[in-house]
Amino acid sequence: MTDFVVYNASQVATPTDESELETVRDGAVAVDDGVVVAVGSTDEVVRDYPPANATAAIDAAGKTVLPGFVDPHTHALFAGDRADEFTAKLRGATYQEILAEGGGILRTVRAVREATREQLVENLLEQLDVMLAHGTTTVEVKSGYGLDVETEVKMLEAIAEADDHHPIDVVSTFMGAHAVPKDTDADSYVDHVVEEQLPAVAERGLAEFCDVFCEAGVFSVEQSRRVLEAGQEHGLKPKIHADEFERLGGAGLAVELGAMSADHLLQSTAEDIESLRDSDVTPVLLPGTAFALATEYADASAFENADIPVAIATDFNPNCFSQSMEFAIELACNGMRMSPASAIRAATKTAAAALDRTDGTGTLQEGAPGDLVVVDVPDYEHLPYNFGVTNVETVIKCGEVVHR
Ligand code: NIG
Ligand code: FE
Repeated sequence: MTDFVVYNASQVATPTDESELETVRDGAVAVDDGVVVAVGSTDEVVRDYPPANATAAIDAAGKTVLPGFVDPHTHALFAGDRADEFTAKLRGATYQEILAEGGGILRTVRAVREATREQLVENLLEQLDVMLAHGTTTVEVKSGYGLDVETEVKMLEAIAEADDHHPIDVVSTFMGAHAVPKDTDADSYVDHVVEEQLPAVAERGLAEFCDVFCEAGVFSVEQSRRVLEAGQEHGLKPKIHADEFERLGGAGLAVELGAMSADHLLQSTAEDIESLRDSDVTPVLLPGTAFALATEYADASAFENADIPVAIATDFNPNCFSQSMEFAIELACNGMRMSPASAIRAATKTAAAALDRTDGTGTLQEGAPGDLVVVDVPDYEHLPYNFGVTNVETVIKCGEVVHR
């Protein structure tokens, strides 16, 4: 018995090392033991893997099969509600003004400190269900709404527990340096992150990555360097929120430290882009954030013209309330003017690179994890073309149908 076969798809599309997006018409994919064992035309694949001999089989006539989406940047674990800030922003308040008044991140911090670990697990599981329904099979989730040892650990434990109870693979990032708490200054708080929070997190093996909000009025380049270097000493790979509102030099720091990714990059200069090109840092663009804040989008074409593959992510958080990678792909095209093929590659293979997943995650190549989505459109181009609706129909994780 094979675990899973999807056949008769009007198109199977996957990024490969050789091409941005390789397509097969009337295609099929077979998954066994959790990994892709065959991808090609329906005739070829069903000869070796007949649907009748599969634990689950889907006739995908008229539909498209893609790799499961990888969302490499979220703050999906939180408590409380900030919908009123959304309305305030529509009336002209800025993100920074709200934060300076103790709202924004600091308001979510108060709610997360009050929540129990069980409530946090519940909250995250609910959000993961929505993500899954929109095709996400791997997601990164950051801490950073605790800003003290106890709550940062509580968040990361909740992330690990939600991962154990949900089909989506959840990758965890420690982001104690997400904001400066009200009662302290940035330098003293960085001391606390480096001397107290990081050792507590590392000792418990709770995070794979370490991230910092390198931004004017939050953490300087020097403070960010301290946090990320200390993280590296504890075996946590660096990521960075860089050059979102002001160009402080976060992209340069990412290159200097060999970070896995540099994210946002709205204000990056030609010089930043050149230095990213000569590095292994994956740029992660977050079109949903620009959409939510009604600011300009990151300049995706500047990266593409420099031949730098970019990833995209939802940045799902109380300030950017969208769990959907379908929507991120739609915005990458309709907002950042990326082509459908490059947006889908950015949401799959390159997104996996931003999370250091080198096992074929984000592709449908033989040997890759059996994570795929069946989308109710005749070819991949129709996915961003038909925006604002749910096109994802069925989601398969490790060869198991986990959403339909
Ligand atoms: O990536 N920039 C910092 N962090 C988030 C916002 C988090 C929040 O507002 O709660 C971001 O946009
Ligand atoms: Fe973020």
